[in-house]
Amino acid sequence: MEAKLTDPLRTLIVEDNQVDQTMLAAMVTEASRGLSFVQTADTLQGALNLLHSYEFDVIILDLNLPDSQGYETIRDINKAAPKLAIVVNTGSYEEDIGIQTLRIGAQDFLIKGKYNGYTLNKTLHYAVERKRMELELILLYQEVKESQNQIVQMEKMKMVGTLASGVAHEVRNPLATVLYGVNYLYNRLESDDKSIKNVMDTIRESAEKANNIITDLLDFSHIDQLNKTEVNLNEIVEKSLSLIHHNIQEKNILIVKELDKQLPTVIADTNRIVQVLVNLLMNAIHAMPNKGSKIIIRSVNKSSNNATIIEIDDEGQGIDEEHINKIFDPFFTTRRANGGVGLGLFVCQNIMKLHDGTVFLKNRPEGGARATLTFKTSQ
Ligand SMILES: Nc1ncnc2c1ncn2[C@@H]1O[C@H](COP(=O)(O)OP(=O)(O)OP(=O)(O)O)[C@@H](O)[C@H]1O
Ligand SMILES: [Mg+2]
Repeated sequence: MEAKLTDPLRTLIVEDNQVDQTMLAAMVTEASRGLSFVQTADTLQGALNLLHSYEFDVIILDLNLPDSQGYETIRDINKAAPKLAIVVNTGSYEEDIGIQTLRIGAQDFLIKGKYNGYTLNKTLHYAVERKRMELELILLYQEVKESQNQIVQMEKMKMVGTLASGVAHEVRNPLATVLYGVNYLYNRLESDDKSIKNVMDTIRESAEKANNIITDLLDFSHIDQLNKTEVNLNEIVEKSLSLIHHNIQEKNILIVKELDKQLPTVIADTNRIVQVLVNLLMNAIHAMPNKGSKIIIRSVNKSSNNATIIEIDDEGQGIDEEHINKIFDPFFTTRRANGGVGLGLFVCQNIMKLHDGTVFLKNRPEGGARATLTFKTSQ
């Protein structure tokens, strides 16, 4: 809708000089033919109280109040009501101050005695419009920054993907030779020397581990080939749990399932989502050194958002504050000494992106971490 100068504005007048205050209120009321909502205050505290109780479009602000003087007044008002347009009411010869107030966050200024009903009204409408545009610009700037971050992230992913598959292909062949050679020697070993067998076992295990990492990497670089069908996420949860049944039993972990029976279907690649859930569940298990801890796995239908959510709550040590921003980075791990590679969450994130979904991991206030997967519900 187009704005008009006669549109009513919710106006707050903050002025300790009673004559000025009454005059301003009368002018604003008259300019809107009595339609504007006008409130007045004599002090900054009075203004803050009113801002707490009502919503305003614009404030006419005197900078010399009994409880606040100068530019601080603008900052305090801005902090209390960031969307409010501010018009400063300055003394007769304070044009310099007026200009300075614009730099601090006011949208316009009035010089006492130099305005009439018409110019006052125009100034107020102009300030509101300028504030609206300012807020829009801030929003746009944030959007641009966000998409810029996303592009950088995507480029990084593409680079890691290309690099990974290149290295993986190169390393895979020599590794196969090592594995083949070890197996060959093992079978031909005539001596019963345990220490030789132990060394060979270690070589084989290491080579197999390296091979698994490479499989993960190659997997990731071919990740765009998805096999999507209509699936029930509860079934995928069950499937994932059965795959790690052994790890759960070994640590005597209690799995509590809170699965919504009315869960709508989603379009997804079953194997990939199993991969995501297994990664998250394994992380939860790794984070809980104590036997007998509990994992809750929950499915929730957020029909109001057309979303289906899976949550995994653990009772582990949680994520260190300083690691929060790094856990999704490729090769970031705090479990390097215990065989962690740091690809789990990175792969999860990429798989979820390819499903138009998200994955988050954060600490729970009651301790432990919560992983949240969000899927779009199929229409
Ligand atoms: N449930 C959790 N609780 C606490 N910290 C976690 C949890 N899940 C992940 N983390 C942290 O995030 C890091 C990265 O996890 P990610 O799954 O990517 O790698 P990883 O588990 O260390 O290794 P892998 O590649 O074998 O999965 C972990 O090393 C750990 O510090
Ligand atoms: Mg992991």
